[in-house]
Amino acid sequence: MCGLKLSLDYSTDFLPRRGSADGFARTHALDARQISQKITQPTTGKHIQADPKGFHGRPGKSENSEHVSMTFLWIFIGLIFLGTLGALAYWLIVITEGVYLGRRAVVWMYDLTAHKYDGIKQYEADAERLFVVRPFLNHLPRHPAPTLLDVAAGTGRVPYFLLEEPTFNGRVIALEPSRKMLAIAADKLRPYGNRAALAAGTAVPLPFAADTFHGVTCLEALEFFPSDEAALREMVRVLRPGGSLMVTRRTGWEAKTFVGRYRDTEQFEALLADLDLMQVETRPWQMDYDLVLARKKVVG
Ligand SMILES: C[S@@+](CC[C@H](N)C(=O)[O-])C[C@H]1O[C@@H](n2cnc3c(N)ncnc32)[C@H](O)[C@@H]1O
Repeated sequence: MCGLKLSLDYSTDFLPRRGSADGFARTHALDARQISQKITQPTTGKHIQADPKGFHGRPGKSENSEHVSMTFLWIFIGLIFLGTLGALAYWLIVITEGVYLGRRAVVWMYDLTAHKYDGIKQYEADAERLFVVRPFLNHLPRHPAPTLLDVAAGTGRVPYFLLEEPTFNGRVIALEPSRKMLAIAADKLRPYGNRAALAAGTAVPLPFAADTFHGVTCLEALEFFPSDEAALREMVRVLRPGGSLMVTRRTGWEAKTFVGRYRDTEQFEALLADLDLMQVETRPWQMDYDLVLARKKVVG
């Protein structure tokens, strides 16, 4: 029973000490003393109290409930651990799209998911005309056939909708590091012949001479680059003086989880102003993004 203690006392005082029975008794008394020595604490000389709970090898009620509590504790710790691991993986792969794992990881993930990209995004022509094409063409310096660059072109969204626009007579170069995304863009842009060109590459360095383009775009991508500042610097470099830049700035709570990379409106506009851009203007755009337009300064 729980709490009941049995005192084992191997005293030999009661044994008879005569005849053969006496010898038998002495032999067994010796055994008993040896046992007694073993269970007597050497320093105090006190006998150890044996607990009958463990005597038959079966746990008592309190031990059982302790065991159940420990099991629940370990399950709880395990669930917390798995939850944390899952949340970390979700943040690393889904929210920040591998940016903390390096440029190759980001591009590799786009290679893996390229075939699903357009199905997920489901860009609609009217919305693209209203929110992408019109704002950019209205901002571009007047030119009969401007040359434009779209950085991180993905599956060719910006070049395709620009070239679909009847009032646009220029050329567009789509630069994209994911071969699979670029292959889809190539299919989409083929009908436009030499008005569309493709370049495989990353935003830094841009494989173009300084002052080349009338306009540069980069939508929904800056936050996935190793350095948004280095990429913007390159975009400004290849822009002609007076040329237009149109980029997006990630907003919303997810944007703030880009630890060490998030810039609020003020910080982003200040960065652009530092990069030889003027007339920096931020507009609310679509979910999770602002649209930011600016013009490269004309020196002299
Ligand atoms: C969310 S997609 C946006 C694609 C396209 N601009 C659009 O609006 O549909 C981000 C793109 O950035 C590209 N990208 C990732 N890292 C890059 C880098 N370092 N330089 C240039 N492009 C990059 C990816 O391959 C991907 O196609």
